[in-house]
Amino acid sequence: MNPDGFHSRLPTLHGDGVRLRWLKPADLPALQRLFGNPEVVRFMALSQLETRADTEQFLESIVEGFLEGSLYQWGLDVEGQLVGTCTLAAIDRANGHGEIGFALARAYRGQGIMARAVRALLEFAFGPLGMHRVEADVDPRNTASIRLLERQGFTREGLLRERYREEGGFQDALIYGLLRRDWMPLSPRAGRIGEG
Ligand SMILES: CC(C)(COP(=O)(O)OP(=O)(O)OC[C@H]1O[C@@H](n2cnc3c(N)ncnc32)[C@H](O)[C@@H]1OP(=O)(O)O)[C@@H](O)C(=O)NCCC(=O)NCCS
Repeated sequence: MNPDGFHSRLPTLHGDGVRLRWLKPADLPALQRLFGNPEVVRFMALSQLETRADTEQFLESIVEGFLEGSLYQWGLDVEGQLVGTCTLAAIDRANGHGEIGFALARAYRGQGIMARAVRALLEFAFGPLGMHRVEADVDPRNTASIRLLERQGFTREGLLRERYREEGGFQDALIYGLLRRDWMPLSPRAGRIGEG
């Protein structure tokens, strides 16, 4: 059992038209296509997955994170296709916070899929997980992610100067935060958790 009392896997969360579900070995090809794409990982703290072995290791680290209770990463399933992932990382139970992350295959963007997935994740984080605060660390050039976070009610809290080493120099990071009390009035429903 993991620290939140989940047995062998994360519960499935339901957003409108998108299911957040446990990732499994059958997802390896789709995960490699997603995170093997340099455009997808450009602004992420993740190295591009170039080989099947890289992807297997990546999936193993997701399972380890789940068992430790430090990282929850769901696959986004739209009509049986794995189209992206949504993550709550750096989970700090004592202080009630975690860091949100997301990635969506290009063909599925611009349809509000990630917005609905993020809402389902927030319902779970602020509901059953009892989090007080969810934060995000975003590259200032990542306009789509910034729009997505702001539309979900996240507040821009600060800019950390030259936080990440990049080819040719250092890159700033924007920090966004959402508090439970600021989110609750925006949410029409409590977390919906299902088995499949
Ligand atoms: C972040 C991501 C999930 C957003 O996908 P999406 O929810 O389908 O988002 P959309 O394509 O609808 O774009 C969201 C908003 O940003 C706007 N936008 C997108 N690209 C933009 C650009 N290059 N310049 C300006 N605005 C842009 C869209 O118009 C939209 O605005 P709206 O909500 O006012 O309509 C997707 O871009 C992605 O997977 N990116 C790669 C992974 C990544 O960077 N993850 C974040 C790490 S923190």
